[in-house]
Order: sequence, then C-alpha cells, then structure tokens
Amino acid sequence: MTTQRLRVAVLASGRGSNLQALIVARDAGQLPVEFVLVGSDKADAGALQLAKDACIPTLTLNPKEFASRRDFDIELFRQLDASGADVLVLAGFMRIIDGEALKPWVGRMINIHPSLLPKYRGLHTHRRALEAGDVEHGASVHYVTAELDGGPVIAQATIDVRPGDDELQLAQRLLTFEHQLLPAVLRLIAEGRLSLLPPDRVALDGQPQDAPLQLRNGRLVD
Ligand code: GRF
Repeated sequence: MTTQRLRVAVLASGRGSNLQALIVARDAGQLPVEFVLVGSDKADAGALQLAKDACIPTLTLNPKEFASRRDFDIELFRQLDASGADVLVLAGFMRIIDGEALKPWVGRMINIHPSLLPKYRGLHTHRRALEAGDVEHGASVHYVTAELDGGPVIAQATIDVRPGDDELQLAQRLLTFEHQLLPAVLRLIAEGRLSLLPPDRVALDGQPQDAPLQLRNGRLVD
C-alpha cells in the first residue's frame, strides 16, 4: 500500500529561497510532500520561476484587480482549496490575510518569520534586533492565526548577533538557518507528528509543548 504524500501549497511574494530549500529537501528525500501549488501576489516573484523550474503549478493574483483585500483573499483561498492542498506554507508572503478567509486553514497553515517571536512581529526585524542591542536573533515557524505573526510558535532557530553586524549580514546569516528550520517543521507535519491544540498550544506526538522546539545542528529538539 502506498500512502498519500502530504499535499502542500506555498505562498511567496519574493525571491523564494525558503521555497527552494523546501524543494531541495524534497528532492533529497528528506521531505515526503507533494507541492501542488505555488502562489504569489507579485508576477515577478522569484518564487514563481523556481516553482516553474521544478514543474510545480503556479498561481499569480494581482491585488489591484480586486475591489478589496477581502475579495482578493476569498479568491486566493478558493484557488488554494481547488489545488487540493492539505497544508499551506507562507514563505515570505508579504500580505496580511483576512481573518475570516484563513479560518478554515487554522492548524493547517504555517509561516516563517525572521525573529524570535513574540519579539518583532511585522517588518524590519533584523534592524529592530540590532537597534535594541540584542545579543541573539533568530527565526520562528508558527501556526497562522488571524493575529499577524501572533499564532502559536512551533520552532525557532537562534543565532548570535556578532559585533559589527549590519542588517544585511544578520539577515543573510539567519537565512541559512531558516532554510533548515522550515523543511524540518514541514517534515514533522508531513509525518503527522505536529498539531495545533486550539486555541494556542502546539503538540508534538500528541504531547502539548511548553516551549518552541529549537533547531540545533540541523535538527529540531525539545
Ligand atoms: C524570509 O526571511 C522569511 O523569514 C520572511 O521573508 C523572507 C523570505 O525570503 N518571511 P525568501 O523569499 O524565502 O528568500
């Protein structure tokens, strides 16, 4: 008997390096998923080209062609439903999603955010960490809820802030860890090991977690 692989859709607005990390992990046999759709709000997003190169169906929706944010989101989620996706990954999708539209996906939708949440929700996270004089910075993967960057955190990668780091250096150094963190979390989901216990607990193997998993040496640990 063959088991059906988890069907995954990815939304991205930009270059798509996190999408690429997912594709690489899948191709290496480390991520038992099937990518059914990559969607974007930007026709020139690098992520779309990466998807095409990997023969993954793509979808571009131009927000300007919709009367409201809500109308855009309703159409986006209609198409995501139609793709047959089980799980939705936001990998640099730079839009706030309507709370009603995303409701049916709560518990099946994750986002990668470049900060140690709950610190620095929103934009310019690297700059804000530097300005605050933080000695550590990081990235989080969390379940998406209606609260922007506010859903339960599943796992984090932490790095040291080095003396002399600027925003770009910090962002680039963190990105290599994002590329390990996101596939590792998606793998746990694909293996059926992760779940959201409403309203705000993450469970691993059925056990509610008291703190986010941590990425250490490329693996997620308690
Ligand atoms: C990443 O830093 C991710 O954490 C954030 O947006 C960026 C996307 O980068 N949400 P890329 O498009 O995956 O290269």
